Amino acid sequence: MNIFRKKAVSTNATTPLNRVLGSFDLTMLGVGAIVGTGIFVLTGVAAAKYAGPALILSFIIAGLACAFASLCYSEFASMIPESGSAYTYSYVAFGEIIAWILGWDLVLEYGLASAAVASGWSGYFQSLLAGFGIHFPTFMTSAYNPEAGTFIDVPAILIVFIITLVLSRGIRESSKLNIIMVFIKIAVVLLFILVGVWYVKPDNWVPFTPYGFSGVASGAAVVVFAYFGFDAVSTAAEEVKNPQRNLPIGIISALAICTVLYIIVSLILTGIVPFTQLNVKDPVAFALSYINQNWAAGFVSLGAIIGITTVLMVMMFGQTRLFYAMSKDGLLPSAMKKVSSKSQVPIVSTWITSALVATFAGFVPLNQLAELTNIGTLFAFSAVSLGIIVLRLKQPNLTRGFKTPFVPVIPGLAIIFCVYLMMQLSTFTWKGFGIWLLIGLVIYISYGYRNSKLNNTANLEK
Ligand code: ALA
Repeated sequence: MNIFRKKAVSTNATTPLNRVLGSFDLTMLGVGAIVGTGIFVLTGVAAAKYAGPALILSFIIAGLACAFASLCYSEFASMIPESGSAYTYSYVAFGEIIAWILGWDLVLEYGLASAAVASGWSGYFQSLLAGFGIHFPTFMTSAYNPEAGTFIDVPAILIVFIITLVLSRGIRESSKLNIIMVFIKIAVVLLFILVGVWYVKPDNWVPFTPYGFSGVASGAAVVVFAYFGFDAVSTAAEEVKNPQRNLPIGIISALAICTVLYIIVSLILTGIVPFTQLNVKDPVAFALSYINQNWAAGFVSLGAIIGITTVLMVMMFGQTRLFYAMSKDGLLPSAMKKVSSKSQVPIVSTWITSALVATFAGFVPLNQLAELTNIGTLFAFSAVSLGIIVLRLKQPNLTRGFKTPFVPVIPGLAIIFCVYLMMQLSTFTWKGFGIWLLIGLVIYISYGYRNSKLNNTANLEK
């Protein structure tokens, strides 16, 4: 049994997908994937329960972890510009079994994150409607929780279907729509900053670390969610013009823009509202209402809904391309690599993703989805970073359009930071993660190993 068989690097991969995206589109795709539930929703609980006003330190620690990892993603994306992100990279660096584990792990990142984001969207959407006196019947307002009288999150399911329809029309349309929505969401974040800055009371920053450094670290393990998405840019590799140059530019610029925004937002947020009051569903809008700027709060709510929609779009996009890549390699059924001749979209993967995300978003509570997303994503970041060190040693002559600086120091730091953040997560999350990986292993042994394209090639060569 050769479970460590590797894929060769093919930098000239021809692709049935449409190469239309440039570095600007990619940066927008990145910002579209990044600024969402993390900054608009999770900052509240992270400040109130973990970090206090030191939320900014949590954002810096989480940002450093992602910055180091993003440099590693950029090198891989410039070396292997194919769909599939960490999954494809580890197929080259470590071999099939690890690739499968990572691909399966990435379903947590993109699939479950999409579900988490959709249920966050639903919360904001419902509170906006409530502002107009419109209320859904309780049973359809949230995931399955009979005690609270909720059974299914209908708005979350609806938004997943709407996004699916947009994605299934083809990447060019999706990318244009994405750019408009990204501009709107950056505008509302800037609005928050420009209105809020005048109301900052430095007294609110005292005590700065009410829960000590361990609180700051736990806060970082939560808000790291706010940075996820930069790697989703690399899943679009087969649709990018001049990927060796444009992918690293897109990934790094998107992360840089978001890091600056987050640091300013977290300072202002904790500066205008005492941190103990921030444990609400819509902390950014709430902060503006707190200082009686209700007009701005309304705009921010609307912008947050739009912002979260773009995250959902990019995350679901990433998931469809991941299934597509795994199916092309034979590890998932071949129907999933079918590309529509009209829209040039992997249409079966798109609808399977839709069904998966809608089911999770409809029935599983948001907090459980979010924690599993974090552990899965940090695991993928660590593996990709390790892959950079391994490939520099084993295949030093590969063409690299972008090189991670100071190897092995930067990838080493990425691994240390990510593993450290993973250790802050609960035992429950670790157990869920273990079970997920075990299910994946069973699927690989019973299906993927036999149907892998590498398996067939090996048979032919005999
Ligand atoms: N970074 C994305 C968000 O905050 C996943 O929603």
